[in-house]
Order: sequence, then structure tokens, then C-alpha cells
Amino acid sequence: MANYDLVIIGAGPGGYVCAVRAAQLGMKVAIVEKNRSLGGTCLNVGCMPSKALLHASEMFEEAGHGLGKMGIALAPPKLELAKMMEFKQQGIDGNVKGIDYLMKKNKIDVVKGRARILKAGQVEVTADGTRELLDCRNIVLATGSAVAPLKGITIDEKRVVSSTGALSLGKVPGKLVVVGAGVIGLELGSVWRRLGAEVVVVEFLDRILPGMDSEIARQFQRILEKQGMTFRLASKVVSVEEAGAALKVRVEPAAGGAGAVLDADVVLVAIGRIPYTEGLGLAEAGVAIDERGRVVTDAHFATSVKGIYAIGDVVAGPMLAHKAEDEGVAVAEILAGQAGHVNYDVIPGVVYTQPEVACVGKSEDDVKAAGIAYVVGKFPFTANGRSKVNQTTDGLVKVVADAATDRVLGVHIIGREAGEMIHEAVVLMEFGGSAEDLARSCHAHPTRSEAIKEAALTVAKRAIHMWHSFQLLEGRVLCPSLQGRPAALNADS
Ligand code: FAD
Ligand code: NAI
Repeated sequence: MANYDLVIIGAGPGGYVCAVRAAQLGMKVAIVEKNRSLGGTCLNVGCMPSKALLHASEMFEEAGHGLGKMGIALAPPKLELAKMMEFKQQGIDGNVKGIDYLMKKNKIDVVKGRARILKAGQVEVTADGTRELLDCRNIVLATGSAVAPLKGITIDEKRVVSSTGALSLGKVPGKLVVVGAGVIGLELGSVWRRLGAEVVVVEFLDRILPGMDSEIARQFQRILEKQGMTFRLASKVVSVEEAGAALKVRVEPAAGGAGAVLDADVVLVAIGRIPYTEGLGLAEAGVAIDERGRVVTDAHFATSVKGIYAIGDVVAGPMLAHKAEDEGVAVAEILAGQAGHVNYDVIPGVVYTQPEVACVGKSEDDVKAAGIAYVVGKFPFTANGRSKVNQTTDGLVKVVADAATDRVLGVHIIGREAGEMIHEAVVLMEFGGSAEDLARSCHAHPTRSEAIKEAALTVAKRAIHMWHSFQLLEGRVLCPSLQGRPAALNADS
């Protein structure tokens, strides 16, 4: 029986970051992990391996198609998939070792095994026939999420795969059918398309990337189509059958009606993730979950049982590593008597394709639905000098600002390095900044970030490097009574 201030269940980005922060604040901490390596979904089968393959496959595509126009002539590159997978694994191993080191450095006890809550203040850990009890003042659940199953379709991780299998395919599929045009479908679909697969994405809704700004999503879809991805929107996969070497994928309109059969070598099921609470003993301990299986928490991450807290993918909110990390820090600070807090209005989201899609705050659809009078400022990368000389002009920046106060409510970017660029908007929004604040901040030239400044200037219809007609169309004020009707923003325009 060991005594701790805090026992954390799950060593993903939520759990391990919480452990480090709690140790920094003087707590005696143990973290329990059932998998062999620390780091959770993110480091082992999520963010990190996918980014390694996105990077490597992008290099492959560039070497094959992108360099000739710059006067760099190369023989067509040859794919060595096994070596690319080794590259991915080296990245995973390096990061995972880093977490082991962080645990040692912060004197956090790592307990390997499956945890179950016996009651508030007591956790049982079982591994290979052994059983250990951990006594503690508080427990944080950070058990993450698992792949959402698709009814009637069995994932074997060989031919019908989840993201986990799709990160480790032994050969490039001739034809890949992706079910779900969300983040995983588009990122991993891009990886395999770049490596040579014919990719068809089947999406239940009539749009891709639900939740993101719909105009951005439409533009992004066009870019992906130009790259060779095919979409079947408003459609559902109803069955996958083996027919010798091929798979027969039956697709029907979402609303019902006559369907079609697609051939595939591999089917990737990427229709979302669900909270993971298996074997945790929540019901017995009295920890409430909601109708979607998420652990119910209050604004301070407390569950329905005193002394038990929960963070990350297992609770409500976007299933993102940085959201889990920030919650980990916040709950540790709350347990130490500080004012831990997460600002859910300013959590960035990034799709790491090429170009990338990055967003923070409210979309135009959100403000419209909320009846907020707003102004939109947009600036395309075709008018950004750095993008022009580098010939990487796909995409745009879109700033959504409050019409009355000019406060920035959301920023949405499609473009190379958008995932890095979004953070100036994040900081601005954390400080409640306005479009004018953004527009008057000096941006280094020539950078792609100048497009953000120009989009902010467009809010006030005064972008410098904008073709006049685009500016007139895009710098507009909209409010419920004016919706869809461009109106003069400035008295002098
Ligand atoms: P997890 O990382 O899932 O960790 C939970 C841990 O708890 C696991 O290690 C699990 O083994 C352990 N555990 C569960 N139950 C028990 C138990 N009873 N006893 C002991 N241990 C237990 N997010 C981003 O922000 N950016 C990205 O680029 C990104 N890419 C992704 C790509 C893919 C393919 C996937 C699948 C996800 C991606 N995500 C990304 C999402 C991200 O991985 C998750 O949001 C994040 O990992 C959630 O962190 P967490 O700590 O809540 O849970
Ligand atoms: P998702 O929620 O992003 O997308 C799932 C898609 O599948 C949606 O478009 C949905 O409408 C569609 N869908 C649902 N049921 C369907 C059906 N029966 N047939 C066809 N389409 C269907 O989920 P995804 O892509 O699986 O990712 C899971 C989580 O992982 C996300 O919440 C995301 O936040 C996280 N993630 C984040 C990444 C990032 O930040 N770059 C990368 C990868 C994952």
C-alpha cells in the first residue's frame, strides 16, 4: 500500500503533464499506465506518428513533383516504406523516452498496469497477475479515448483499419476508401495519397471537417480535390465485404436510396473517437458519465465523487492533446489551491495536411447562428509576396471580428505553415485584442504571417496589398438584419 497526494490514471498528454505540474507544486505523485510505453494515444498512435508520416510523405511528394519548377532536377524518388516506418518509430521512441525522463526528473512514480478505482482515495493496479493498492488524497482520470466503431464493420487493423492500422500499413494500398472526412481521414488520407494510393473519402454529412468554418472547409475540399482526393459527401458506408484480394465497399446516400459499390484494398474507419473508461470501475465508485460515455465534470474538473477529477479526451470538449495538457495543468493547480483555468474559447485546432488548416475561436457559422453582428476580413495567399515568390499560394486568412467592438472572435487559415501562424491569433484573443490591434502590430517582411495582418486590415476595408475588387467584396459588415448583404463599414467608403 503506497500513499500519494495524487494518483493519475493514464499517461497521455493530459496525465503526464498533470503529473509534472503537480510534482512542481510539491505533491507526491504516481501515474498509472496500462500500456508498455508512456505518452498515450498522442505519442504512440496519434499526433506524433501521424505527423512523422505526414512530413515524410510530403517530402516524398515534393521530391517527385515539387522541386522541378525551382530548377532542382531529380530522378523520380523511390519509396522505401519500411524505412519510412522506421523513421516514424524513431520519432515515437525519442518522444516516449523524453516522457520517461520527465517522470524521473520530477520524482513521479510510474506504476505499470491497469488501474481500477476501488473508492475515492484508493486505486487498484493489476499487471501480470500482480496487484498493488495505491492510497491517495486525490485521483485524476486521464484515460483518453478509443476508436469509434462503425456498426456492422469489423476493424481487423490489416485491411479494415482504424488510424492505428493506417499508421503502420505494410504496403501502399492501390485503392484506399476512407470513412469520415474529419481530421484523421484527411490527414491519413493525404499520407497514403502522396505515397501513391487512390483515395476516396466517404462522408456522412454534406461537408468535410464539421465544426470548422464552412467556407474554409469548402475551399479546403477544392484544394484536396485538386491534389487528387475524391469525396463522396452525404454518403454512408453500409458494408465492407471481402471478395478475394479486393474489398467491396457498399456506399449509400446518407438519406437512403440506391447505392454503389467501391473497390478497395484498404478501408480506413475514421468516424470519431469515444471516451475510454473500460474496467475503471466508474459505476461501482459512483462516478457519473453522460449519454455519450464522457465522465461528467464541473468547471473545476471535479467528477460526481469528491476527490476524483477527470481531464482530456475522457471528458467533454475537443479531443486534442493541447486541450488535455492545459486541463492537466489546471487541475494540478486547483488541487494545490491555485486558480487553474482553461479558456475553452481560445483553443486552436490544426489539420496538418499540405496546405494546413488552422483555426481558433468562433467560425462565421458560429457567430451567424448566435446572432452576433460581425465583420469578416479575408486575405488570400495569392496576394502575399512571400507566398508568391515561393509559389505556395493556396489558401487564405479569414478574421471574424465583432462589428460593435472590433474584438477578434475567430481566425481561420488555410495555408502552408498555418499551424504555426495561428498562434499570434491565439495570443491576441487571450488578451481580448481587436482586429485593429492585429492590423497595427508590425509583422516582419516578407513572411506569410503578413497575410494575417492584411486580413485584419481588411476588417476595416483597408488592406494594403489587396486587389480592389476582392477587398470590396470581402471587407464587409454582417449582422442578422443585413445577412448576406455587403454593407459599407466606413463612412468614407
Ligand atoms: P490519451 O492520450 O488517450 O492517453 C490515455 C492513456 O490512459 C493511455 O495511454 C491509456 O493506455 C491509459 N489508460 C486508459 N485506461 C487506463 C487504465 N484503466 N489504467 C491505466 N492506464 C489507462 N491531437 C492533437 O492535438 N493534435 C494532433 O495532431 C492529433 N493527432 C492525432 C492523430 C491521431 C491518429 C489520433 C488517433 C489522435 C490525434 N490527436 C491529436 C488527438 C490526441 O491524441 C488526443 O486528444 C490526446 O492523446 C488525448 O490525451 P489524453 O491524455 O486525454 O488521453
Ligand atoms: P472527427 O470527429 O474529426 O471526424 C469524423 C468524421 O466522420 C466526421 O466528419 C463525421 O461526420 C464523419 N462520420 C461519422 N459517422 C460516419 C459514417 N457512419 N459514415 C461516414 N462518415 C461518418 O473524427 P476523427 O477524424 O476520427 O478524429 C478523432 C479525433 O481525433 C478528433 O476529435 C480530432 O480532434 C482528433 N484528431 C486531431 C488531429 C489534429 O488535431 N490534427 C488529428 C487527428 C485526430
